[in-house]
Amino acid sequence: MTNNTNNTNNIDIAPIGLLTGKVVFITGASRGIGAAASRLFAREGAKVVLAARSTDALERIVTEIRADGGVADAVTMDLADRASIRAAVDRVEELHGRLDGAFNNGAVIQQPGPVDATTDEDIDEQFTVNFRSHWTAMNAEVALMRQGGGGAIVNTSSIGSRRANPALPAYGAMKRALNSLTETAAVDLAPANIRVNGITPGGTATEMIDEWEAATPGIIEGMSARIPLGRMGEPREIAEAAAWLLSDRASYVTGAILPIDGGAGA
Ligand SMILES: NC(=O)c1ccc[n+]([C@@H]2O[C@H](COP(=O)([O-])OP(=O)(O)OC[C@H]3O[C@@H](n4cnc5c(N)ncnc54)[C@H](OP(=O)(O)O)[C@@H]3O)[C@@H](O)[C@H]2O)c1
Repeated sequence: MTNNTNNTNNIDIAPIGLLTGKVVFITGASRGIGAAASRLFAREGAKVVLAARSTDALERIVTEIRADGGVADAVTMDLADRASIRAAVDRVEELHGRLDGAFNNGAVIQQPGPVDATTDEDIDEQFTVNFRSHWTAMNAEVALMRQGGGGAIVNTSSIGSRRANPALPAYGAMKRALNSLTETAAVDLAPANIRVNGITPGGTATEMIDEWEAATPGIIEGMSARIPLGRMGEPREIAEAAAWLLSDRASYVTGAILPIDGGAGA
């Protein structure tokens, strides 16, 4: 981090009950932004259901949230497997009988490199895990939300969807496709009282960025230098925006793709 003057890492923000009474499903919940969102949403009063492949990591976060007085459950789910995604949403219905919010956030980074060095395997994985999964998840989520008379969905895209992405071309393409799906679903689902929004985080201190740094040493320093706020984001800072978009405070916001990037995309 290049500049700590604005760092909110150690700020303890008091919860305001933003998500009180809501049942919220979170993918990519085993670490990073999804784990921070799980903790934050629970503190804000949501009953959270955490999904990812790493069952042990999910269970540790669930235990922590319950110890803090929250309501949380874990479901093991593979975003590459459509049946597994549908089963995870079925589990939400079994647990709570309803779904008010969904944070479709899980994703995987590709091997960094130019278009003509991106492997077929990477392209397939980016399509399956970072794009198709969210389509499948949204359809399952929407079916359950319709029963309850509405809901809100937030899809995690990336600043890397907004411009040419020569370092992560397949990742950028799938994230841009996700923006299109988000906007289209917002229009389709407005009559059902379901809001759909996207967020485009900039560089955020998680294992995904650590993986990129391992493949391309120096990427964190270079990225941080180009961020007007002078530092990478913390996972909680991304989760805060998702919490607001999932809350009734954002009742007139749908079809938005919201940058949360310290000004990097400005
Ligand atoms: N960090 C950044 O700088 C940044 C910037 C822009 C956008 N984003 C986006 O923010 C979101 C969260 O990223 P992050 O930085 O928190 O990444 P992360 O720390 O690598 O976490 C990724 C999460 O996705 C889950 N996941 C990956 N593949 C999966 C699969 N096949 N099935 C189920 N779950 C899977 C992982 O869980 P398991 O491994 O346990 O399955 C993990 O919980 C992603 O959509 C990412 O593209 C991140």
